[in-house]
Amino acid sequence: MKLTVIGTGYVGLVSGVCFAELGNEVICVDKIEQKIELLNRGEVPIYEPELQQLIVTNQAAGRLSFTTDLNESVKSSDIIIIAVGTPSLPNGHANLSYIEQAAKEIGRAMNSYKIIVTKSTVPVGTNEKVREIISEYTNEPFDIASVPEFLREGTAVYDTLNPDRIIIGTDSERAERQLVELHKTLTSDIIVTDIRSAEMIKYASNAFLATKISFINEIANICEKVGADVTKVASGMGYDRRIGSSFLKAGIGYGGSCFPKDTQALIQIAGQMDYDFKLLKSVVEVNRDQRFNVVRKLETLLGNLSGATIGIWGLAFKPETDDVRDSPAFEIIAALQERGARIRAYDPIASDNFRKHSDFKQIVYCKDAKEAAWQADALCLLTEWKEFERISLTDIAQWLKSPYLIDGRNIYTEEQLANTQLVYYSVGRPNMRGGIKEKAPSLAL
Ligand SMILES: NC(=O)c1ccc[n+]([C@@H]2O[C@H](COP(=O)([O-])OP(=O)(O)OC[C@H]3O[C@@H](n4cnc5c(N)ncnc54)[C@H](O)[C@@H]3O)[C@@H](O)[C@H]2O)c1
Repeated sequence: MKLTVIGTGYVGLVSGVCFAELGNEVICVDKIEQKIELLNRGEVPIYEPELQQLIVTNQAAGRLSFTTDLNESVKSSDIIIIAVGTPSLPNGHANLSYIEQAAKEIGRAMNSYKIIVTKSTVPVGTNEKVREIISEYTNEPFDIASVPEFLREGTAVYDTLNPDRIIIGTDSERAERQLVELHKTLTSDIIVTDIRSAEMIKYASNAFLATKISFINEIANICEKVGADVTKVASGMGYDRRIGSSFLKAGIGYGGSCFPKDTQALIQIAGQMDYDFKLLKSVVEVNRDQRFNVVRKLETLLGNLSGATIGIWGLAFKPETDDVRDSPAFEIIAALQERGARIRAYDPIASDNFRKHSDFKQIVYCKDAKEAAWQADALCLLTEWKEFERISLTDIAQWLKSPYLIDGRNIYTEEQLANTQLVYYSVGRPNMRGGIKEKAPSLAL
């Protein structure tokens, strides 16, 4: 099939490349010339494992191209996939201006029947709005469909080629047939539904996952007070098939380009219909507060943070990505700087992006993990990169000036800590001093 994908961000680029890998002819369009120039040179503007190799092979096979010319690409395609951003507006609503602009440009370029698919996460009713906008600019026939995306950054290529399910929301049999054909090699779990339900499935799924995270974080906070271990609690809960073990990892809370904005957007969607989504509001509040436990723990250990040097490991909102959108690291570092702390930060991939997206002054961006920890008064691990898991805790203890390690992602084990002199605070697990568990009750947060 001949496809155009509009937007070469994490979703558009990965989807376009994977559809090419499946044998389709794909044109990826973006309005940012610099991105398209990079892609045409075989370079990738984002960090996503396995992506570069697939780009190179599919470009060489003549199935994949990149352009800024939306008009020409729409004209030569049968299916147009909109994958532009839908960031939060200051009031929490989704900003639909990129979607509306893309719809206008598609409308102007229409020259024959096409299927217009929205992959971006959009509020209920947006696909119908897309239909209206396109109709204002063309009399050519077309159908619309909502095919929301569920990939996870860091494993985006794998997820796209191995999806748990594909949701197709459409009111057209013709569109349904072609979209089922397009996706049928990926999974047998293709769910065809109405457009509004498809739009809602995406928000409901993200809201539910965010709820699981905030739930286990609250359990972790209680575990700290009563002397239980949240990792054991989560493991025990996870055996119950009604609960499941995924997304029960306690930590400093979720961030990224999806959960924070999609939970806010769903609260707004409900509010517009005079429905107060109390549960989701609490999920958001719990998540916002959870990250500051790192700061509270540091204050418990060090007292006044003014003049203290704090090493930060991890700036990306999760491992295996360079995406720093809504990363908890922003607010944690801001809170530490407000208290007068000096920050030495290291991330294996995301430091440049973090620097670009922040206006922090006086952070020292370090070339490796050792440099960030060197002679620090405490070290905080904020992103669970594999690289950090492999570092010996004996080395960490030697690098630090004071032996304080705050693990915001629970990556180190009791065994690893056993022979070190570190004072170790994680999330919802017993604190350790020199390899020995502190007696409960632990920190009063
Ligand atoms: N990132 C994720 O993990 C993820 C997962 C599932 C769903 N989503 C959803 O997918 C959508 C895209 O997310 P993303 O992270 O890929 O966004 P992104 O910001 O990384 O990329 C969007 C791209 O669209 C381009 N663009 C905007 N308007 C355009 C236009 N008129 N013509 C051509 N290009 C245009 C931008 O230049 C940008 O490169 C969002 O709605 C998001 O909520 C994201």
